[in-house]
Amino acid sequence: MTPTKLAPPQIRPDDPPGTQPDYFYPPYKSSVLRAPAEPLIYLPHTLTERTGPVYGHSLIRPTDNDLTAQHPDPPQGERILVHGRVLDEDGHPVRGALVEVWQANAAGRYRHKVDQHDAPLDPNFTGAGRVLTDDQGCYQFRSIKPGAYPWGNHYNAWRPAHIHFSLFGAGILSRLVTQMYFPGDPLQPLDPIFNSIADPAARQRLIARFDIDKTEPSFALAYHFDIVLRGSHDTPFEDAQR
Ligand SMILES: [Fe+2]
Repeated sequence: MTPTKLAPPQIRPDDPPGTQPDYFYPPYKSSVLRAPAEPLIYLPHTLTERTGPVYGHSLIRPTDNDLTAQHPDPPQGERILVHGRVLDEDGHPVRGALVEVWQANAAGRYRHKVDQHDAPLDPNFTGAGRVLTDDQGCYQFRSIKPGAYPWGNHYNAWRPAHIHFSLFGAGILSRLVTQMYFPGDPLQPLDPIFNSIADPAARQRLIARFDIDKTEPSFALAYHFDIVLRGSHDTPFEDAQR
C-alpha cells in the first residue's frame, strides 16, 4: 500500500505550520515508508516515565566533549569549536540537559559498519561526543569540520556538511534529535532533509553562525548554534518525544 499524506500529527500543537519537518516528504525517499499511515494515538506518559529512568551524569567525563582528543594523535581536518545554549520557549536556559553529537569525519565518512562510502576512515576520529549544559544552558564541543557525503536518495545526492544532535531532558523519554548545518554550504538548497522543513526561516535556525569572537586564534574556527526547545522560534527537530 502506498502511504498518502495525512494531516500533520498533532504532537506539536504549538508549532506554526511548516516550522517542523514534514513526516511525509516524497523528495526524501525514506519518509515515504517511515511516515505514519494512520492518525497518531496519544499515549500520556506516566509519572515514572517522566521522571525515570535517567542516565548517569557521573558517567560523563570532562573530555567527552572534545572529539579531537579521543585517540593518541589528532584527527585530520579543520578544527572547529561548536558552542551555544539550550533554551526553553521563554529564552530561559535549560540546565543539565545531555547534549550528544555524532558526525562524519573530514572526508565525509562515519565510523559505522553500514557506511561503505569510498572515503578514508580516520584512525584518530570516532565522531561522537557528549556534554551536559551548565547553569546558563551552555554547551561546547571541540571537533573537526565534517565532510559532505553521498547518499542513495536520488542520483548524485550529497548531504551538506552537518552534525547530528540529540538532547535528553530529565528522563530518557524526553528526547529531541536534530542536525546542525554550516553557513554558506551550496549543498543545503539541494538537500531533501533540509528542505523537508517548509518554512525558510525555520530552516535557517538549523544553520550555525560563524563566531569570530569565540574562534581560538591559530587553532580553531568557531560556530554558534542555539537550540530552542519549544515555541514559535523553536529548532526544527526530526524526532521528538516531549
Ligand atoms: Fe549524517
